[in-house]
Amino acid sequence: MQQGEGLGNGISSPVKISVQEPKSSEIRLVSDDDVPVIDFSLLGRGDEGERKKLDVACQEWGFFQIINHGAEEAIPKMKATVIDFYDLPLSEKNKYAMPPDYFEGYSQDNKVGERKRDWYDILWLLTMPPHSRNTKYWPLTVPGFKESVEEYATQVQRVTYEILGNLSLLMRVERDVLKELHGEVKQGTRLNYYPACARPDLVFALSPHHDYTSISFVLQEDDITALQIKHKEMWVPVKPIPNAISVLVGDVLESWSNGKYKGLEHRVVANVEKPRISVISFVIPSDEAELNPLKTMVDDDHPPIYKNGVKYIDYLLYANTKETEEDKYVNNIEYLKREI
Ligand code: OGA
Ligand code: NI
Repeated sequence: MQQGEGLGNGISSPVKISVQEPKSSEIRLVSDDDVPVIDFSLLGRGDEGERKKLDVACQEWGFFQIINHGAEEAIPKMKATVIDFYDLPLSEKNKYAMPPDYFEGYSQDNKVGERKRDWYDILWLLTMPPHSRNTKYWPLTVPGFKESVEEYATQVQRVTYEILGNLSLLMRVERDVLKELHGEVKQGTRLNYYPACARPDLVFALSPHHDYTSISFVLQEDDITALQIKHKEMWVPVKPIPNAISVLVGDVLESWSNGKYKGLEHRVVANVEKPRISVISFVIPSDEAELNPLKTMVDDDHPPIYKNGVKYIDYLLYANTKETEEDKYVNNIEYLKREI
């Protein structure tokens, strides 16, 4: 099994359309200030109050938006690059097509006649560390593509390390422990394009799932509310703050934190008026990284909920054996849990 195969099936594919009907009744409309917002510049300065806010956000929501993150200049360039790529004719985009057995590249994934339908295109690239970049899948004919993606990836990596550092302190270990647990910290970047859809009541743009990551970043369009997060058994629409970046807790962090921070269930509803683009940065450990809960998170009051010795790759392979979408994308954390 190549390293890529696990990643590809594990991460690039929670992107299927579900024919499940999104029920408006289970959507809870909240005021904008309910969803946590973290001032990243304060975190960077070691502000303990902001670190505490990060703790609460991860514990109670598994989600927050960050402002003052320092990536403000990279964001418009990155968004423009995504639009430029998707403006290319299909024949040109197909030059970067994702091969059947590999996870990088462009995919429309249109499987007409199957249960799932597709409402978006993706371009999946490994962006960090730099030596992992496979420029064969990079549309370098798009002016500025390389610069925009590299700059955004670098900014996200800087932000990643700061957040992992703060989470380490919150988990009572040295700053660099979570980063080290990844082995080599990898970053996968997915450029998404969701076409406008006249019947968002009938299909999701992206059906409910957890990310197979430690943390994930979502760059959204400022004026479209489409991402929804599960909070206290209700779906909460996230109104993007202009220029903010959304951060999600993935299942890997759930295990490392012994369940203090839960992997977030989330989904995307289709947008009626116009297409939507987004950029997802997946922070991924190396295949051999172990997902054991940190010793500092285990004591008499907090017995270990997750197993020791499970490697990241085992977890991806396990998820791939699951038949139902629910088991594959929502319940996959079960594999990491001990038998009770
Ligand atoms: C994902 C995801 C959200 C979005 O790709 O895993 O959750 O807004 N995307 O595109
Ligand atoms: Ni996701």
